[in-house]
Parts: sequence; C-alpha cells; structure tokens
Amino acid sequence: MKIINVVGARPNFMKIAPIDRVMAQDPDIETFLVHTGQHYDEKMSKLFFDDLQMPKPDIYLNVGSASHAVQTAKIMVEFEKILEKEKPDLVLVVGDVNSTAACSIVAQKMHIKVAHVEAGLRSFDRRMPEEINRLITDAISDMLFVTEKSGMENLKNEGIPDSKVHFVGHVMIDSLINFSEKAAESTIMEELDIEKGNYGLITLHRPSNVDNIEVFSKLIDAFEVIEKDLKLIFPIHPRSRKMIQNFGLEDKVKDMQNLVLLEPQGYLDFMKLLHNSKLVLTDSGGLQEETTYLQIPCITMRENTERPITVEVGTNILVGTDVDMILDEFQKVMNGAKRDSKIPELWDGNAAKRIVEIIKKELS
Ligand code: UD1
Repeated sequence: MKIINVVGARPNFMKIAPIDRVMAQDPDIETFLVHTGQHYDEKMSKLFFDDLQMPKPDIYLNVGSASHAVQTAKIMVEFEKILEKEKPDLVLVVGDVNSTAACSIVAQKMHIKVAHVEAGLRSFDRRMPEEINRLITDAISDMLFVTEKSGMENLKNEGIPDSKVHFVGHVMIDSLINFSEKAAESTIMEELDIEKGNYGLITLHRPSNVDNIEVFSKLIDAFEVIEKDLKLIFPIHPRSRKMIQNFGLEDKVKDMQNLVLLEPQGYLDFMKLLHNSKLVLTDSGGLQEETTYLQIPCITMRENTERPITVEVGTNILVGTDVDMILDEFQKVMNGAKRDSKIPELWDGNAAKRIVEIIKKELS
C-alpha cells in the first residue's frame, strides 16, 4: 500500500516523524513524504528534519507564506499534481494547519482516502484559523485518530460514525519520549548560562495575541513584572518578531535585562529548555500537552483550549490575556503550589504503532 504523509508547518514535523518511522519499517507500506513548504526558514523546518532524523521529503512544494486563501489554494494546486502522478492509497495529514486542510480536500475530491491524526479537537472558537482547518479536515476524513477523550465526544456530536474514529494516544508524545535522551545531550543551557528550574520558557505566536498592539503590549507588561523574579527565555516565532518591530516594542523588550530573546530553536534544544524549565508561558497548542506530560506548570495565554484534558488532569491553566491572572498564576508557581496532575490515557510512546496497525487493517 502506498501512503503519502504530509507535513507543512513546524508543529507537523514531530507528529509525522514517528509515523513515518513505523511505516518505513513495514514491508507492506511504501511511504512518500510531501512537504508543502508552508514553513520554509531553516530554523522552522530543516532543523527539525535533522533533529528528528527524518528522511528528506520526496517532494517539496515551496508554497511559502501568503494570505490564508492564497496559501491554501497554492497548496491545493500543487498537491493535486502530486496525487495525479503518485496515485496513493491513502493521504495522511496531521494537526490543524493550512496544509492539513488543503491536502485533505484535494485527496477526497480525487477519491483518495484520508487519515487525520489529532482529530476531534475543538476550541469552539471559529475565529481561530486552526478551528476551521480542524472542522473541515474531520468532516471529510475516512480515518480519524484521536489523542484525548474530548475528541471522541466532539466527533460523535458532529455525527461522525464511530467506525471511523480511533482513540490512539498522541504521536507528539511518541517523539517527546523517543528523543528525551538525545535532547538531554543538548548544550543549550550551558550556552545560555541557565540551570534546571531557574528560568521560565515563553512561546507566543497566535495572531489573536501578537497581531494586536494592545494585547501584545499587555502581555509584554506581564513579562516585565515576571522577569524581575525569574529569568525568561523566549525563542521567538518570526510572526511575533515582525510584530514587535511593527509595533515599535523593540526598545521596551531590549530594556528587560532578564528576558532573553532567541531565534526559533530546533527540536532537541527546545526540548532541553522545556524539560528543565520552572514554568512555561505560552499560547501554543502542543506545549500545553508537552508540559502536561512532563508535569511542568503551564500558564496558557488563551481564553480557550481545544485540548481540555491538559486543564482537567494536567498542569495547564488558561489565563487569557488578563495581566493580573497571569501574575497570580506565576506567583502560585513561585510559592511552590503544585497541582495534582496525571499523564493522559495512552500518551505512552506507542501511538504511531497503533495508528499504522489500524491503517493496515482498514486498507487491506
Ligand atoms: C502556523 C499555523 C499554526 C501553528 C504555527 C506554528 C496555520 C493557519 N497556522 O502559524 O496553527 O501553530 O504555524 O508555527 O496553518 N514565517 C517566516 N518563516 C517561516 C514561516 C513563516 O518568516 O518559515 C513568517 C512569515 O512572515 C509568515 C508568518 O511567519 O507570514 C506566519 O506564518 P504562517 O505559516 O502563515 O502562520 P504561523 O503563524 O506560523
């Protein structure tokens, strides 16, 4: 059976890596890796291929950045040509980025089966571009692989037949487990002169947080208070760096002695920073889950989450963009408050194996 695995943006790479690896070892499966080029900077893409020991993509579509419509359309036009030529039995997409939705639409219209990994997550906030991508991809997928129980309920409520839905755990956690030892060898902490537990880690890139000057300034105000007590390491997404410049916030950020801005980090260096951090301040989806797995306090600067398990049983707390709430939660962590937390069901490093087994059964 021939399967095309699709990657496009940074959060896709660590999800495809374990699936691609399991498939490569299976004599019944021929894989073909397509990279849409949604993310293209060396630090947003190639570095991850190297760190995650992934094979070079068989095809790179080179679509680059553009408005949502243009980017999605470009991916669709280019991906259609690949499917015409390769005629796979299945297209496998992960996550909720534009590449995920674009490739699943093209495949379905060519009567090629689609598997969606990380299906069923819902923030119920349709102003998030990812929520639209999730709804579209799930509505038309043939196999839906779910990471947490809320996903099963959401898909049931949307009328997706149970026979298509499989609760398998989380491939991103497979990568976290697989690469823990390798990440431990990273020398990033020596380079930054930091030690376990003496810094917080920030990531921030959602349009709702960084594309609005009032919101972005408020969040930086919160960091300004926090950095007085705890060093903050902030690997910055290109979108956020651009907005800091556009909004004239550069001087303010430079004046914060204890806030260290870094270029986007590769997978292994970032994992090392994460494993050893005292707390995480983020608006990322994946980090809410990685911190839950590692039992590190996570203060999420969003009003909602499509990953409710991280709040219910994990270490995540939603604070929106309310500075007082951010500072309150920060203080609690500094005062040693610990939340009882558990690792969610099936987040055990074997999700990719489960997925490939099910795919083989469904395709044969
Ligand atoms: C995308 C995903 C988001 C994911 C995020 C992780 C969608 C709708 N959004 O958002 O779900 O959480 O990736 O990073 O798919 N840029 C570069 N170099 C790159 C890529 C982007 O400089 O390699 C800059 C460009 O200015 C671009 C901007 O970042 O316009 C945004 O990139 P884009 O892929 O459109 O969205 P992200 O914010 O990265």
